Amino acid sequence: MKLLQRNISPAISALKARTGVINDGTKDTKVRRIVLKPTHATMVACVGVLLAVFLLGSMNVWGSYLGMLPGVMKPTAWLAFALFITAFTASSLQILYPGNYGRWAMKNRRYIGLSFALVHFVHAGLVLSNLLLTEATRTAPVLTGGGLAYVFLGLMAITSNNASVRKLGAKNWKRLHKIGSYYIWLIFMATTVPEIPLSWPMGAIIPLIGFVALGLRIAAHRKLKK
Ligand code: HEM
Repeated sequence: MKLLQRNISPAISALKARTGVINDGTKDTKVRRIVLKPTHATMVACVGVLLAVFLLGSMNVWGSYLGMLPGVMKPTAWLAFALFITAFTASSLQILYPGNYGRWAMKNRRYIGLSFALVHFVHAGLVLSNLLLTEATRTAPVLTGGGLAYVFLGLMAITSNNASVRKLGAKNWKRLHKIGSYYIWLIFMATTVPEIPLSWPMGAIIPLIGFVALGLRIAAHRKLKK
């Protein structure tokens, strides 16, 4: 009997892992929770579908691609910001307030980051077509500063896999992602802080969240150093 149990247990565990059924440790045969895992590539795909629905819906409402451009550039940047901040604060929140949310965010940070890259490259596409197809212009410093953020974002996205971590070495990989994410944070702040007086109080939301996120990272860094 014991031998039979020993042979069957791994098979049951594998089945539970495959079906997403989690054993909470109370009793081997009792299943209390069913966990759906909206993780990995599914998450990036869901964000892509949401974005496509939003853009197609907007085109329908405004009647044309050019017509929708003024109304969609900001929302794509806001969605990108929400995803960016989720990835940017994942480890700090887990260090400061360990729990289910922090564990989930840490585990899925790579895919949250890739979803951010997807949305923010769509923002770039919209911004570029606005520059090419309309009278809109941007100064050279704005284009250079924003462009460099996209260089970092592209490098971070293509190195968001285990093979790149091995190839670059953990130290260089971490350096790239740290410098890149602080630079992107800086551009978010540089874009939104000057807008605060023009769109008070809503315009203060992104800068406020950005500075709280920075505070969390500093507090987590200090906690680790103690
Ligand atoms: C060459 C690069 C870029 C250009 C030319 C550009 C241009 C624009 C334009 C035209 C808007 C819409 C403004 C409006 O509707 O009044 C916008 C919004 C925004 N962009 Fe970009 N963008 C660039 C890159 C970036 C980057 C790299 C970031 C962040 C890392 C960013 C963050 C934002 C944010 C947060 C908003 C919303 C601002 C608000 O709500 O006040 N942009 N951008």
